[in-house]
Amino acid sequence: MENRKIIHYKQIDSTNTELARLALRGATHGTVVTAEEQTAGRGRRGREWESPAEDNIYMSILLRPQIMPEKAPMITLVMAYAVAKVLKEHGFTDVQVKWPNDLLVSGGKVCGILSEMVLAECEVDYIIIGVGVNVNTQKFPEELKGKATSLYKAKGKFLKRQTLTTEIVDCFEKEYQKFERYGDLSFLQDEYNQMLVNCGKEVRVLEPGNEYQAVALGINQTGELRVRLDNGEETVIYAGEVSVRGVYGYI
Ligand code: BTN
Repeated sequence: MENRKIIHYKQIDSTNTELARLALRGATHGTVVTAEEQTAGRGRRGREWESPAEDNIYMSILLRPQIMPEKAPMITLVMAYAVAKVLKEHGFTDVQVKWPNDLLVSGGKVCGILSEMVLAECEVDYIIIGVGVNVNTQKFPEELKGKATSLYKAKGKFLKRQTLTTEIVDCFEKEYQKFERYGDLSFLQDEYNQMLVNCGKEVRVLEPGNEYQAVALGINQTGELRVRLDNGEETVIYAGEVSVRGVYGYI
């Protein structure tokens, strides 16, 4: 992604939404939008993403990859892996991933990723990967207590958001190039599985219109979660439209 373009806003509704507007006006592969604050930050499954001013990272990156649409969820895992790698470099050695793309530090969620894809005649027109990292938040609203945390809360040290943002984009670019070279996630599979918080644990699989319990076994080369069903059979679940949670709660 040569000539990387970063567009920064003091306040925006959502960096994903803004980047989608820019994509429609021809923004190029690799364009990044960041913001100090989001007034309508969005999470997965139609949820809101708390986006207070000046504490955290809200960023989105635009990709125009030449891949089949069903390969797109792999890119979200590449981003989760890249953010985890940067956090480890900052000494957050206990970083864990909750498949497909939530990152936890000291057992609390510090990062969420929302990928949105737009197709044109069955081909990928663009993909927006939106990343929210709780960096310096000191207090969370009541409903997020016990679930979310921030890097500050985990370590008691404030971190520079700008440095972290650049490191995440740089690391993502490197890992994305590997993804382009290999065409799958074989290059990160082992490391990802070592960080997988649900590995070997009972999870509830939330498929549209179908919920069931299974034991998570780890991701395969294409980022699907391998699970063992109650009857002993193994199957894989696709990151695109499914998510999992612990049997007794979020993890
Ligand atoms: C989730 O875990 O539910 C995903 C959260 C994604 C939040 C980020 S913040 C930057 C980008 N803009 C948004 O509106 N959402 C994503």
